[in-house]
Amino acid sequence: MDLRQEIEALESEIRRLLGEVDSLEALDRLRVDFLGRKGKITLLTKRLGSLAKEERPEAGKAINRLKTWAAEALEEKMRAVKAAVRARKLQQERVDVTLPGRRVPAGREHPITLVSREITDIFTGMGFDIAEGPEVELDYYNFEALNIPKDHPARDMQDTFYVSDNVVLRTHTSPVQVRTMEKQRPPVRIITLGAVYRCDSDVTHTPMFHQVEGLLVDENITMGDLKGVLTRFVHLMFGRDIGVRFRPSFFPFTEPSAEVDIQCVICKGKGCRVCAQTGWLEILGCGMVDPAVYGFVDYDPEIYSGFAWGLGVERVAMLKYGINDLRSFFENDMRFLAQF
Ligand code: FA5
Ligand code: MG
Repeated sequence: MDLRQEIEALESEIRRLLGEVDSLEALDRLRVDFLGRKGKITLLTKRLGSLAKEERPEAGKAINRLKTWAAEALEEKMRAVKAAVRARKLQQERVDVTLPGRRVPAGREHPITLVSREITDIFTGMGFDIAEGPEVELDYYNFEALNIPKDHPARDMQDTFYVSDNVVLRTHTSPVQVRTMEKQRPPVRIITLGAVYRCDSDVTHTPMFHQVEGLLVDENITMGDLKGVLTRFVHLMFGRDIGVRFRPSFFPFTEPSAEVDIQCVICKGKGCRVCAQTGWLEILGCGMVDPAVYGFVDYDPEIYSGFAWGLGVERVAMLKYGINDLRSFFENDMRFLAQF
């Protein structure tokens, strides 16, 4: 076969192969096969030497034309393949913006959070300010300044978690009374809300629970004010129809003292496991601040008087939502929590 025929044969071979190629890799192999250092077109050039002298310039030009043509044809094919690859990719990764979005499951507030806010709103609505105190508390504030000296039998009323000899996890929010009175002169009108800890567990007791403490100190404050404020609270929280009773009680830091019971909503007062068959559930302790406490904060008991209370938030939530085991608030069962 003379050189001219070979050139024509190569050209039609390249045309045929270009028609079949559909990937950049195959195209690259084609380039190497024809235009590479040992490619078919390159090898043709090497054969020029064996031609008669006068035939060489013409043959050289023909090979160069083939080379240029092949390079351009490959280049053009490459652009086409790249465009096709890109189009395929766009097609595969297409996003259907009309599809509905994936739903992000929404969290909700814990029933204790809901009830806490309701309680806080009622008392701030009556003019009480919000005070705060630590959960890890000095023995002094949790007990001593509340008229509960070391070794006093009243310490047994609450089963305490001790951190060290003089530091406890607060067993109630009453230490905030003392901390507030240390900083502020009367009139004092505060509530404080927070976690408290006791070694306790049954259907109406958990080792961590929440209290809302209230304290009001001014001139001429009486037990009548206490009863008015707390009765109003119960009516706003549970409605006017619910049974409420003030029952005489004892706390070392109040005199006289009382506990407030609400008619059990689980059995409607008939008696059940939750109310220990009494028909009533205790929600708070309260009383007139004992003059001994004023001694620790340098208030004159001849001038000032006041009242305080400590309310169990979980107990209120239990009655409000008709929950028959207080421990369910802390088990984090989504089926329970999703109901609120
Ligand atoms: C006290 O803690 C006093 N500090 C309350 C007080 C404050 C009296 C100010 C006078 C003046 P008591 O231990 O009774 O009192 O608790 C108050 C309320 O907390 C109870 O009525 C009850 O509603 C709730 N409570 C008590 N123990 C638990 C517990 N383990 N789990 C859930 N709630 C509880
Ligand atoms: Mg009590």
